[in-house]
Amino acid sequence: MLESPGDVAQALADQFVLDAQRAATRSSRFNVALAGGSTPRPAYKLLAQEPRIDQVAWKDVCIYFGDERCVPPQDDQSNYKLANETFLTAVNIPLQNIHRMKGEDDPQSAAAQYAQDLRSDLGDPPRFDLVLLGMGPEGHTASLFPSAALPDGTTLVDAPFVAKFGSYRLTLTPRAINAARHVIIATTGSEKAQALAAALHGAYSPHTYPVQLIQPIEGRLTWLVDRAAAGQLSSVRSRQ
Ligand code: 6PG
Repeated sequence: MLESPGDVAQALADQFVLDAQRAATRSSRFNVALAGGSTPRPAYKLLAQEPRIDQVAWKDVCIYFGDERCVPPQDDQSNYKLANETFLTAVNIPLQNIHRMKGEDDPQSAAAQYAQDLRSDLGDPPRFDLVLLGMGPEGHTASLFPSAALPDGTTLVDAPFVAKFGSYRLTLTPRAINAARHVIIATTGSEKAQALAAALHGAYSPHTYPVQLIQPIEGRLTWLVDRAAAGQLSSVRSRQ
């Protein structure tokens, strides 16, 4: 457990750098899926600044997205816009290495196209080096929201209609996420405390807490959580 959202951002940025450097020793590419929402924003900004900007071989980084709102890329709601404005434009990643989910297209066809791109780039299931995720106050992650129907085990990208927002979303499925070498879920704020405690210490109920579906098959799962979000965890050990 970390003290503050700033500490979570630092840790997230450091883990990104570490995984990118590890990937560089294994192969010529670092395949990473980015999270949307507000939690990763400060971490993305840190990646665009000294010293971290010089610690990553950005030309070898291949950017994917864990989920996207069904809006155009210039829309303030767009997760691509968030990443592009906070760090992608500041680092020299070749444009062809940035794989945007096409939120402006028909949701079903955008999901099918992204799944096809993932299969041809990374296989099925796709082997990401790192998947960054957040968690919503009710226990969703990516755009896997509480629902009676969860993605089947073969789909890689889903296009659920999210009643809470009255709109469609595009999202990687657990199949696409759980084959990753490393998954990081960054969660801050007291509004996440109930869902975090239920997801980590409560009964397995993925229809209610979809974040429980994130169980890397061979890879590592790292939670980066601040004290406020950890407030209802029974045995909170402060960071040594
Ligand atoms: C999105 C994200 C979503 C996010 C959680 C937490 O598109 O919004 O992918 O899953 O990670 O909703 O959002 P915050 O980081 O803003 O709390």
